[in-house]
Amino acid sequence: MTQKTAVVTGAARGIGLATVKLFLAEGRKVAMVDRDVEALDIAAEGLEGAVPIVCDVAVQDQVTKMAETAQDRLGRVDALVNNAGVADFGPIAETDFARWRRVMETNLDGVFLCSQELAPALAQAKGAVVNIASISGLRASTLRVAYGTSKAAVIQLTKQQAAEWGEQGIRANCVCPGPVDTKLALAVHSPEIRAAYHDAIPLNRYGTEQEIAEVIVFLCSDKASYVTGQIISADGGFESTGVGLPALRV
Ligand SMILES: NC(=O)c1ccc[n+]([C@@H]2O[C@H](COP(=O)([O-])OP(=O)(O)OC[C@H]3O[C@@H](n4cnc5c(N)ncnc54)[C@H](O)[C@@H]3O)[C@@H](O)[C@H]2O)c1
Repeated sequence: MTQKTAVVTGAARGIGLATVKLFLAEGRKVAMVDRDVEALDIAAEGLEGAVPIVCDVAVQDQVTKMAETAQDRLGRVDALVNNAGVADFGPIAETDFARWRRVMETNLDGVFLCSQELAPALAQAKGAVVNIASISGLRASTLRVAYGTSKAAVIQLTKQQAAEWGEQGIRANCVCPGPVDTKLALAVHSPEIRAAYHDAIPLNRYGTEQEIAEVIVFLCSDKASYVTGQIISADGGFESTGVGLPALRV
């Protein structure tokens, strides 16, 4: 079996779905993993080479079954994209433990569980893991105690994976997207937040799902064969402009 493959979580829409489509376009067979049964059905319809698998990445038993099914259906696993994520913006005082756990269980536990389950298959294929964090994991802000902390942990988890799995030939990298117009962002970005983002981003706009997917697919490809343990922002320049004071602008 020589056809390359990938497993993408959170594949039913947004950045995950755009990544699936790029992988398919380059001839990979792709397992589309999502917990939203209806959205997954609709997204996978008509996508040749796509294997939809319903799974909540925060639930260990489901992840174990998903990994078995993915290996059975794909034959090999060359790439794992841990993209499933949820956002929740709120002040620390209002972030009760249930809210905290809801974010952590998908954004952090899910990345840990899926990677661990698929590591043997990835080692066999000398494959690549790409974890999706966020600029919120690189720069702190108000209202993101759970989301920002979960994404900072994903950045560190990526480095742990790269350090430990390098010997087995597995590369692990992390992509930190800036704001992208998806359902996730629409739920938490008010018009004021949108305007402020435009102001703080050198390229002066939101990114597209496709622009993030291109970076993910590159990091999974042989073109990135000597790249591991790296944190790549795809954010229109947001992260690199630490002191974005309007008074300093020309
Ligand atoms: N959109 C942005 O502005 C932005 C910015 C930075 C980082 N990100 C990150 O990019 C990733 C994708 O975000 P998006 O904007 O495409 O989101 P989205 O809400 O459009 O899509 C997320 C998908 O993940 C699925 N999902 C959520 N929790 C899951 C779980 N526990 N198990 C299985 N599937 C689950 C959802 O059903 C959905 O299909 C997330 O990790 C997000 O944190 C997004």
